Amino acid sequence: MTAQVQYDVEDGVALIKISNPPVNALNQVVRQGLMDAFERADSDDRVGAIVLSAEGKTFPAGADVREFGRPRAAPILSDVCARIEACKKPVLAAIHGHALGGGFELALACHYRIALHDAIMGLPEVNLGVLPGGGGTQRMPRITGANAALDLMITGKPISADRAAEMGLIEKVIHKNLDRAALASAKNMIAQETPARPTRERSEGFADPVRYTEAIKSWRGRVAGNFVPSVRCIVDCVESALLLPFDAGIALERQCFDDCERGSEATALRHAFFAERRAAKVPELEGAKLRDVSAIGVVGAGTMGVGITISCLDAGFPVTLVERDNDGLAHGVDRVRDNYEKSVGKGRIDQAAADDRMARLRGTTDMADLSQVNLVIEAVFEDETVKRDVFQQLDKVMRPGAILATNTSYLDIDALAATISRPQDVVGYHFFSPAHIMKLLEVVVGAKTHRDVVATGFALAKKLRKVPVRAGVADGFIGNRVLAAYRLAADFMLEDGASPAQIDAAMRAYGFPVGPYQVLDMAGLDISWARRKRLAATRDPSDRYVAIGDRMCEQGWFGQKAGRGYYVHGHGLGPVENHDALAIIEDERRKKGISPRAFSNDEIQQRCLSAMVNEGARLLDEGVALRPSDIDVVLLYGYGFPRFRGGPMMAADQRGLLTVKNALKSYQEEEPKFWAPSPLFDELIKNGRHFSDLNDD
Ligand code: NAI
Repeated sequence: MTAQVQYDVEDGVALIKISNPPVNALNQVVRQGLMDAFERADSDDRVGAIVLSAEGKTFPAGADVREFGRPRAAPILSDVCARIEACKKPVLAAIHGHALGGGFELALACHYRIALHDAIMGLPEVNLGVLPGGGGTQRMPRITGANAALDLMITGKPISADRAAEMGLIEKVIHKNLDRAALASAKNMIAQETPARPTRERSEGFADPVRYTEAIKSWRGRVAGNFVPSVRCIVDCVESALLLPFDAGIALERQCFDDCERGSEATALRHAFFAERRAAKVPELEGAKLRDVSAIGVVGAGTMGVGITISCLDAGFPVTLVERDNDGLAHGVDRVRDNYEKSVGKGRIDQAAADDRMARLRGTTDMADLSQVNLVIEAVFEDETVKRDVFQQLDKVMRPGAILATNTSYLDIDALAATISRPQDVVGYHFFSPAHIMKLLEVVVGAKTHRDVVATGFALAKKLRKVPVRAGVADGFIGNRVLAAYRLAADFMLEDGASPAQIDAAMRAYGFPVGPYQVLDMAGLDISWARRKRLAATRDPSDRYVAIGDRMCEQGWFGQKAGRGYYVHGHGLGPVENHDALAIIEDERRKKGISPRAFSNDEIQQRCLSAMVNEGARLLDEGVALRPSDIDVVLLYGYGFPRFRGGPMMAADQRGLLTVKNALKSYQEEEPKFWAPSPLFDELIKNGRHFSDLNDD
């Protein structure tokens, strides 16, 4: 046997054990090893029953990520599963850890299953734009019926051992000594002459064909508008489990898997998966020493400060929260408490956990109370003078080697660092709102930021369960720079003839959960207004300036919180078009002598995408972003960019760089500077390369 698949016989039981650390991924060597081991066990006269288990921390947690998107070398998983199922002797899977994807399919091909009580099982293939390809779509519904099988495969959500037992997927939940329990069960099977029980021959799941068919119909309706084709394939495959012979169902599953895996959505989803892992690799990590972060300070208990505080408390840190005055502090602490009360109410955490978190929170109005923490994240007003003042106070009270992080959205971190005695300890940790929910953290590296401080930011992000991306200093770093370009492209169209509702609908049709004007109304129009005012003095007067947003803010229409923005809010009907806003738009068009024209959804989408990609290319040129896939991660995790498109840079690769560049050139007449294609386009196009070729691995 290979080192990855061990074979032993004990008391007439063949013990087949997978050993491929760290997660026992099912690569070709393991698959071949399993083929050989089951072949041997089946023909071994000493053997009356077979146990399949895995060494280390988990049953196989899935396929080998290095094989994603590539043709699989034989034997493929589906053949391994068929071989296991064909054994004449009963086969028992003993599951622990995370039996996911192909790992769980392997277990489903066994005749019986037991699992350790804390094991997790699931079929999350849909998250990568594919579907179970090892027979899962055919075997699982034979046991559970259509509804439970579809729920598991379409949501991709894992289930606990207890839930799996309720669903009939495992025979028994084991509390300790899984190996011993498995051996005892197998010996028992031999003694009782328990027969092999191929899942392909089971039919409990088909007991009520009417209910089965109804579940199919209902799920088909639910996934009708889904952008990812594999969800519809899953429904088709589960339907075919009832309608077709087993082998024909397996053939359909294989065909669907191959088609989906080659599709643009799965390609983009795989890209997103790898992009996130790649973003964690930054040059500063090499040779860096992590700084101790055992206690955190947060300055400013506003929207962001409260969210950051919750995020740090959730991760187990003690937090000292500083506000200007007692009222502001009490309000902030109340918001933290409210959050936990709601979490308890919804059953997300228990009261003891909420009490523990609140006990780790200390509120104060005295900066000197930060003298003992090793990291402070300031989230005070977005105002250079206020932030500078806070930094100078921090410089006085914080201990040597402590980290001073700013959560600024746009301000120059180098300028801020230059005002204190320890610029090497200054960094940007840019969270997104709501900070305890949004996964993205831009780690903004200033000219003098020490590598240890950067590395500590990446380590902290992991503890906070965030996805960190490195950004250089620039107005808006990566995300807000790209966002600004996106919004400007949208504003130009608004002035030229489109309506906010039309642009929002077009971007939803592209896959965004909400359009740019819905986001503006939700976030507050005053935030971008403040930025425009800040930049007014340095704006090139020859640049096209869209004043629609300013005119709305002058009326106090700050969006949702004011009841009015691009939409009217608060009538219990959801947002409705604001006719007064449309009047402002028309007035601005009149003033500039613009005759409105029609925009198709496709043109709206392509203009917005081209603007984002071009800004991304500029960020690469300027060295603000390390690699294209980092820009994708920022847009995916911070701005709702549709994951099945992989992010703007990936979407541009898929559309074709020449097409995107030509689109930019065709818009350039209107706004020469804004639409000028970044030189990076020509450099890549000339060499037949894509943005993805710049992603180092
Ligand atoms: P906010 O206005 O809700 O909160 C700011 C808080 O800071 C207020 O409670 C204020 O009393 C307090 N504060 C002001 N000066 C202080 C001082 N000297 N000492 C102690 N506390 C002081 O603002 P928000 O939205 O929380 O933004 C904070 C920072 O986070 C800004 O730099 C903003 O650009 C940035 N940011 C905001 C995001 C958002 O979506 N709101 C997203 C990402 C970053």
